[in-house]
Amino acid sequence: MTEPVTFTFAETDIDRIAGAEGRVAVIVGGDGRLDRGARRVNRLTKGALARLVEGERFAKAKPGEVLSLAYPTGMAAEAVDVVRLDRRCDVQDARRAGVALARAMGKADLMLLAGNHARLAAIVTGIALRHYDFDRHRSAEPDPRGAVTVMCAKPEEAEAAVAAPLAVAEGVHFTRDLVNEPANHLTTISFAERLKEMEALGLEVEVLEEPDLEKLGMGSLLSVGQGSASPSKVVVMHWKGGKADDKPLALVGKGVVFDTGGISLKPAAGMEDMTMDMGGAGVVAGVMRTLARRKAGANVVGLVGLVENMPSGTATRPGDVVRSMKGDTIEVINTDAEGRLVLADVMWYAQERFAPVGMVDLATLTGAIIIGLGHEKAGVFSNDDGFCKSFLKAADAEGEGAWRMPLGAAYDKMLKSTIADMKNVGGRPAGSITAAQFLQRFVKEGCPWIHLDIAGVAHVKDETTYAPKGATGWGVMALNRLVAENYEG
Ligand code: BES
Ligand code: MN
Ligand code: ZN
Repeated sequence: MTEPVTFTFAETDIDRIAGAEGRVAVIVGGDGRLDRGARRVNRLTKGALARLVEGERFAKAKPGEVLSLAYPTGMAAEAVDVVRLDRRCDVQDARRAGVALARAMGKADLMLLAGNHARLAAIVTGIALRHYDFDRHRSAEPDPRGAVTVMCAKPEEAEAAVAAPLAVAEGVHFTRDLVNEPANHLTTISFAERLKEMEALGLEVEVLEEPDLEKLGMGSLLSVGQGSASPSKVVVMHWKGGKADDKPLALVGKGVVFDTGGISLKPAAGMEDMTMDMGGAGVVAGVMRTLARRKAGANVVGLVGLVENMPSGTATRPGDVVRSMKGDTIEVINTDAEGRLVLADVMWYAQERFAPVGMVDLATLTGAIIIGLGHEKAGVFSNDDGFCKSFLKAADAEGEGAWRMPLGAAYDKMLKSTIADMKNVGGRPAGSITAAQFLQRFVKEGCPWIHLDIAGVAHVKDETTYAPKGATGWGVMALNRLVAENYEG
């Protein structure tokens, strides 16, 4: 996987500044005061730094913005990056400063003169999140990745303070790697293998194979994968960091490694994007990795349904009726509404086996949620106001967009089938809501539940606040925080 960029923390040694290669960054507050490191940079550059800070560009710079001095005289560095950031700034501004530094550094080395800045951990988080490039399929030898040296007042303290944020960045990168991976490289088999490797981090990872799923009666999930040459699987990742008898929080992810639509085939244009249709499973995997990496004091179980939706002689036909593990029968009107068929069985299994304190499912479930919310916010559906509120609060604190959508009996009615207990589509109106209603039929009475439709936010064509183009890792930070704030300690 793509490891986060390496950070080394050292006490400020102003004699190392002149010889530092790559880029050197200084942090200057709105008052324009230069700290010890910045004063040395100013002396070396014969006052260039002070001129920049006293000038109009700096005066107009927003908190977290970076202005660069290229090829400064008196220094080995190729540039000095001047970060405008007050000591007691907003955490999001500090993260944005880190993002700007990471964008500027590319593959160069960076020496960050952080002095005793109060938001160093957030700056480091921003650098780590944005320093990401999915280049494993280019044949050219990749440029060596740079490293970050942070010179600051209390290096040991700083290092301890960034341990948890770096665990989060590692989880986010793991998710992005999975979501960016093409479907001929990330099959259900290799996906399960990558998850199995996380046992090295202390997670218990169990892979259920097709015969196991048949025995459990998962006819709904199996109907989606039956047209593919890759076998369907359910992977259970268990992190037991809490008290032995505490019931876990369950995270459930849609892992359709490729969604052709099946016999209800999708149009050719843009179909290549459906390599990201395992985004929900990718987020669940990234959260589990983060929890293990930071040794979270909570019990959390992550379950993913891994299938490929292909058209073939063995594929499910429109009109077929399948039986879910719960026992309810489903008329498959449209084989392209496959995510809900996968989740129905995995969600039911999660509740039967673990009786979780709450359940969050994540899925790139509907195109309709992109029409409704675009690429800014994920759709949030819930049967529990308190649970929903804690999630929205966590998402807001992490700068991950989320917006609650309604549920209701009138929407549920739209799933009525003439021959089975329900059909798998509710028609064009309210497409994201009827998909959520379908899922709710597989939530037990009394189980607090949140459904996150991440079709618009899992993978995007333009860069976002924290990520370059492509997979974003949306949700890893919010769910990690949800766990930290509600299930630990
Ligand atoms: N994986 C798609 C949803 C999707 C669309 C994700 C665009 C990311 C970007 C899902 O399986 C799907 O095909 N949904 C259908 C449902 C319809 C047939 C009721 C859709 O949204 O069109
Ligand atoms: Mn589909
Ligand atoms: Zn899909």
